[in-house]
Amino acid sequence: MLTTRDRWKIYKTACLMFFVAVITLTVLQRGSTYSGAQFREDSPSKQESLSEGVHHMQKKGLLPGTEGFWKASKQASATEKPRVTASRAPRTWDVTTTNCTANFNFTQMEWFGGLESNFKQFLLYRHCRYFPMTINHPEKCKGEIHLLIVVKSIITQYDRREVIRKTWGREKEANGKRIKTLFLLGAPSKEEEKANHQKLLEYEDYKYGDILQWDFMDSFFNLTLKEVHFLKWFSTYCENVHYIFKGDDDVFVSIENIVEFLDGSKIRNLFVGDVLYKAKPIRKKENKYYVPQALYNKTHYPPYAGGGGFLMDGPLARRLFGACETLDLYPIDDVFLGMCLEVLRVTPVKHNAFKTFGLVKNKSSKLNREPCFFKSMIVVHKLLPPDLMRMWKLVNSNLVCSRKVNIL
Ligand SMILES: *[C@@H]1O[C@H](CO)[C@@H](O)[C@H](O)[C@H]1NC(C)=O
Ligand SMILES: *[C@@H]1O[C@H](CO)[C@@H](O)[C@H](O)[C@H]1NC(C)=O
Ligand SMILES: *[C@@H]1O[C@H](CO)[C@@H](O)[C@H](O)[C@H]1NC(C)=O
Ligand SMILES: *[C@@H]1O[C@H](CO)[C@@H](O)[C@H](O)[C@H]1NC(C)=O
Ligand SMILES: *[C@@H]1O[C@H](CO)[C@@H](O)[C@H](O)[C@H]1NC(C)=O
Repeated sequence: MLTTRDRWKIYKTACLMFFVAVITLTVLQRGSTYSGAQFREDSPSKQESLSEGVHHMQKKGLLPGTEGFWKASKQASATEKPRVTASRAPRTWDVTTTNCTANFNFTQMEWFGGLESNFKQFLLYRHCRYFPMTINHPEKCKGEIHLLIVVKSIITQYDRREVIRKTWGREKEANGKRIKTLFLLGAPSKEEEKANHQKLLEYEDYKYGDILQWDFMDSFFNLTLKEVHFLKWFSTYCENVHYIFKGDDDVFVSIENIVEFLDGSKIRNLFVGDVLYKAKPIRKKENKYYVPQALYNKTHYPPYAGGGGFLMDGPLARRLFGACETLDLYPIDDVFLGMCLEVLRVTPVKHNAFKTFGLVKNKSSKLNREPCFFKSMIVVHKLLPPDLMRMWKLVNSNLVCSRKVNIL
């Protein structure tokens, strides 16, 4: 027979062992989390939960084909913000010199000779991954930021930047949520732009403090460089940014709708935009997006969101930086980002309020001038400064719309 005292001893020992086991397990788990690679691939179970999330969104009317349209349902809104984790990127921009010599290895390849000159140039310099910064703003991400707006721009398009600052890109704080804006630029591609425009740009930046500029030539194929430079910059300086809207400088954007959409969102790995799921590489030489077989030989691109405007969460952007680093650069920037997402096994989500591939085929369609339509959208491609200003004023006037316009 056990005495009460013996039972007490056994009980104490058991408790102690349990306690030790819990501590050991916690320590082991931490260890395996922190010693991981720069980014982790999603396990199949996470994949499942993501597709469940998509299914969930469909049911809640977040996705096309249902009536709720872009508004997230209120049931889905009792959620935590995406967890912002510490990054392993350096603390400052660590690229200070350019030493980019052409990689003539390609010239020995049989197929290289047959390429168009822009593809040749792309391949010869593809290995030059990062360049120094000519204008930086390390302080931009100080503190907690709800939404960081980043806009791809080029040095000569100051009028577009100007109107964006006055319209959808205006920095503000609403209900304690801070919204900040940045423009991403490369170096001027023409000699005559160098002298005059660079000085003007520096003045513009002195006035507004919202320009990031890197020392690579701003060309169409170098847009991918802009993408990876931004991801690296973001991973370096922006620990406490919850969401990023990234877009072109010739689009209409409703930040109000974005904020409302995010309030109702609880998706991990948020990546939403005008997604193409099975786009085919374009093989017609006269097309702007033509890609030769030698550069990409699969029949389809991975799912990707049109670069005109998309939304992602901060932690995902940091993981994308690591994922992109495992890939060779690809000349089309939004397709490249789709490739990086594929590495992470994250599927971008299509949303009908993002119209980056043009609105309707018919340019004279009434929809292009309908403010109630714009009021219900998140991104609409494409509006140049005067039209953007006009539409912005209409949408933000005492506009009465009977209901959110349903599209197509
Ligand atoms: C640039 O790199 C090449 C080869 O990587 C090297 O031979 C050369 O010395 C470097 N030049 C400078 C200025 O660092
Ligand atoms: C060119 O080829 C050589 C030999 O295969 C290789 O060592 C070198 O890294 C290549 N250069 C570049 C820039 O990839
Ligand atoms: C991209 O920029 C680099 C650095 O300015 C330049 O050497 C390269 O030729 C550019 N590539 C293309 C395809 O324009
Ligand atoms: C496609 O390209 C990859 C890598 O460049 C190569 O390994 C593969 O053999 C190519 N496939 C076809 C069908 O050409
Ligand atoms: C485009 O839309 C306008 C107005 O809705 C119409 O008059 C015109 O016929 C349409 N054009 C085409 C090519 O469909």
